[in-house]
Amino acid sequence: MGKLKKIGVLTSGGDAPGMNAAIRAVTRAAIYNGLEVVGIRHGYEGLIQNWMKPMKSHNVSNILGRGGTILKTARSEEFRTVEGRKKAFETIKENYIDALVVIGGDGTFTGARLLSEEHDIPIVGIPGTIDNDLFGTDYTIGYDTAINTVVEAVDKIRDTASAHNRLFFVEVMGRNAGFLALRSGIACGAEAILIPEVETELNKLKDYLEKGFKRKKSSGIILVAEGKESGGAFEIANKVQEDFKEYDVRVTVLGHIQRGGSPTAQDRVAASRLGVAAVEALLDDQKSIMVGFQHNDIVHVPFNKTTKNNKPVSKYLLDIVDILSI
Ligand code: F6P
Repeated sequence: MGKLKKIGVLTSGGDAPGMNAAIRAVTRAAIYNGLEVVGIRHGYEGLIQNWMKPMKSHNVSNILGRGGTILKTARSEEFRTVEGRKKAFETIKENYIDALVVIGGDGTFTGARLLSEEHDIPIVGIPGTIDNDLFGTDYTIGYDTAINTVVEAVDKIRDTASAHNRLFFVEVMGRNAGFLALRSGIACGAEAILIPEVETELNKLKDYLEKGFKRKKSSGIILVAEGKESGGAFEIANKVQEDFKEYDVRVTVLGHIQRGGSPTAQDRVAASRLGVAAVEALLDDQKSIMVGFQHNDIVHVPFNKTTKNNKPVSKYLLDIVDILSI
């Protein structure tokens, strides 16, 4: 690659609060370093279709605290194909883009890895997903905001659950990963947390309900991560209701409110740090890496590593749930 002059930035996959803060940081850090910036709309689909917009400093004014993504996002089917990625690379050349910053999750980085393997384009990824499921970084943009959204909602559910002595199954996002369910569950004192990484032991849950909830508790909250592995909140609630006819069981699905809202201060700061780090990485001739956090320090992790390994859930946090829900 010649001298870096122009970079493209895009958001892809599920949106996450703080993506705008990351777009702002990338744009301003690039301009600060004398680079031109172009925003690619609708993720990889925009790269295929040539949906571009030049980004100046004022284009990212007043977006730091806004949820969603001003560049829009998508999950592009065509980009999953070799032909789609070839078209995307042609658009990159046509627009004289020297390097890309992609903001998203696992699917986004898998796409970036393939594009950079097949074509000569340096790419740096910024982890942005409420799932926090990317290997190689302790933290992803949007996770903290989503946790706070869940906690606020479940605290309200707890009030009504307790008033009626009810047992609630609350479904939260994370069809492939239970980090959001686990951490927000601890933060709102859930009696049990069912996540895809741990096989749902219905008997253990029923045992617990028999001994603990029935005797001592005025309410019960079971957090269930969406997706097949944990069974889905409705399915599990039905199975429990069959055995415990005397329980007043209810189900709440929190859904996409978890992806929206103004990012927390933590997400804004993380996005700002990662955005600047991504531009600095490109200036430093890095390619095919994610910038992330380990122990609050910025790290560079090859896409190969982050997309091909599974991030483990903390056994320690799982134990804490059991200890504190007696
Ligand atoms: O990956 C982010 C995420 O919000 C997951 O937590 C969730 O399982 C999935 O996306 C939902 O995707 P969609 O918005 O396409 O329904």
